[in-house]
Amino acid sequence: MDAKDQQLNDRMQVPASSLSQPVSVWDWPIRLFHWLLAFAVTGLVLTGLKGGDAMQQHALLGYTVLGLLSFRLLWGLVGSRNARFRHFLASPAKAWAYLRLTRDEKARWIGHSPPAGYAVMLMLGLLMLQALTGLIADDEIAFSGPFAASVPGAWSAWATWYHKTVGKPALLLMIGLHLVAIAYYAVVLRIPLLGAMIFGSREIEK
Ligand code: HEM
Ligand code: HEM
Repeated sequence: MDAKDQQLNDRMQVPASSLSQPVSVWDWPIRLFHWLLAFAVTGLVLTGLKGGDAMQQHALLGYTVLGLLSFRLLWGLVGSRNARFRHFLASPAKAWAYLRLTRDEKARWIGHSPPAGYAVMLMLGLLMLQALTGLIADDEIAFSGPFAASVPGAWSAWATWYHKTVGKPALLLMIGLHLVAIAYYAVVLRIPLLGAMIFGSREIEK
């Protein structure tokens, strides 16, 4: 090899330290769950705000979310390693320790970090409360949840108040924070999380 070839070779060779390899992160049921959930929740917000005839679709999407959440609870117990609650729920001390990791250490983290684990549980809990209060809510115009007439009026009034005044803004805030966190990881930390939620795996820096 002459000097010129050697130079070219040096330039083209990827240094071993920057070689990366795909690691599987999310199984397909979690990915399907996630995108169906995002689709259904978007539809719920739009139909809920529109009211009137759209409330029929609101109810159907709401039952879909109840089904999806039931699946997620089950998958959190028996699903693949990264999907299991036991795997990603950690003590506040561990969550604090994660926040203090360097960017490179965070880049090698697979699955939900401990702080993300708390956010996931909060989001799933808020969604569950939203769907359950919807079942007994009553807009007193076009639509009432299927069990609204079977419970005392005060319960239905409380559930409607929660659904509109607490659950809706809390969920919108959580979804906003969710998107900001994903964008922060991608743009500021240069850690792309989205690909793994679409394709299942992610290249991990060595
Ligand atoms: C209404 C819309 C959305 C809802 C309700 C939602 C909800 C969730 C939930 C509950 C999880 C945890 C998954 C699990 O373990 O079960 C999650 C994770 C994730 N979501 Fe969303 N999501 C929404 C929209 C989006 C969008 C638009 C994107 C893409 C920009 C996105 C990207 C992700 C990613 C990348 C993760 C994995 C985060 C990680 O690695 O820790 N989500 N989302
Ligand atoms: C996670 C699932 C759900 C989400 C995210 C959601 C979201 C919403 C939103 C954003 C509104 C508009 C509130 C407003 O006018 O400010 C709404 C209204 C309403 N939703 Fe839901 N909803 C869900 C599940 C359900 C279910 C399962 C039912 C019943 C089958 C239901 C019944 C209602 C009713 C009756 C209203 C009208 C309340 C009123 O205007 O007085 N929702 N929902």
